[in-house]
Amino acid sequence: MQDKVVLITGIGSGMGRAAALRFASEGALVVGCDLFQDTAEETARLVREAGYELHYQAPVDLSDAQGAKAWIDWAITIHGRADVLYNNASSPRFGDVHELSVDDWDFTINNELNLVFYTVKAIWPHFMEHGGVVLNIASIAGTRGVEFMSQNAHGTAKGGVISLTQQLAAEGGKYGIRAVSISPGFIVTPSTAWLVDSGPQPLLDNLARIPLGRPGQPEDIVNAALFLASEEAQWITGVNLVVDGGGTVLG
Ligand SMILES: NC(=O)c1ccc[n+]([C@@H]2O[C@H](COP(=O)([O-])OP(=O)(O)OC[C@H]3O[C@@H](n4cnc5c(N)ncnc54)[C@H](O)[C@@H]3O)[C@@H](O)[C@H]2O)c1
Repeated sequence: MQDKVVLITGIGSGMGRAAALRFASEGALVVGCDLFQDTAEETARLVREAGYELHYQAPVDLSDAQGAKAWIDWAITIHGRADVLYNNASSPRFGDVHELSVDDWDFTINNELNLVFYTVKAIWPHFMEHGGVVLNIASIAGTRGVEFMSQNAHGTAKGGVISLTQQLAAEGGKYGIRAVSISPGFIVTPSTAWLVDSGPQPLLDNLARIPLGRPGQPEDIVNAALFLASEEAQWITGVNLVVDGGGTVLG
């Protein structure tokens, strides 16, 4: 990752913060954004404390196409180029089909799927000239239904991220653009930590059955992201790498 310019969305929390710290420590020039200034600044402080640099803008709302483009345009100017776009940010809303409002459905599609298209569309002309890697964080929710979470909108959005990634791989290959997605299983982050203690019993049962014996940590995802973003993955595109401790292989 030495001197690679890596644009990471949602650096203020969980896996985005872990990614900013780790990519910076691997020599990448990280440029980030988040909806929230205070949490983004805390990540920047942690990166600085570790001896590296992080440029970021916040508040940036990527569910607004113009906001997403403005951030990408700004991010490319910082180091004069971009090598990796790491789409991590998302905000879902949950509810059973008969209860979820159309507003909540639209919010989820905007904040989990459309925002990915917006950043990709904005960076695509740059990547068409220079090549690049699009790394999208999807989810195991994108390829299955579960009884313990009302993930209809969330799963639909993440399924869209997986298939968008495949199409980006098909369209991008001739320009030297790779596109990959990672589908995390349950990862302990500020958004999910409470579920480990007081989630619904079927979810706890599900976590207890994970073959590798524990829920994931942000670093489990970032390790996979580092490989997929690197030159070592130069012949890998269009894949959706499931990183879930083996949970989804169970019947
Ligand atoms: N935590 C899990 O168990 C899990 C499992 C599968 C997939 N994922 C996916 O991994 C990614 C990271 O998850 P996390 O648990 O670290 O999330 P998180 O909620 O802890 O962090 C998400 C970050 O994205 C930012 N963000 C959200 N919407 C934004 C927007 N419209 N514009 C700009 N920034 C925005 C938030 O402010 C936050 O800092 C997400 O895409 C999530 O769907 C998480």
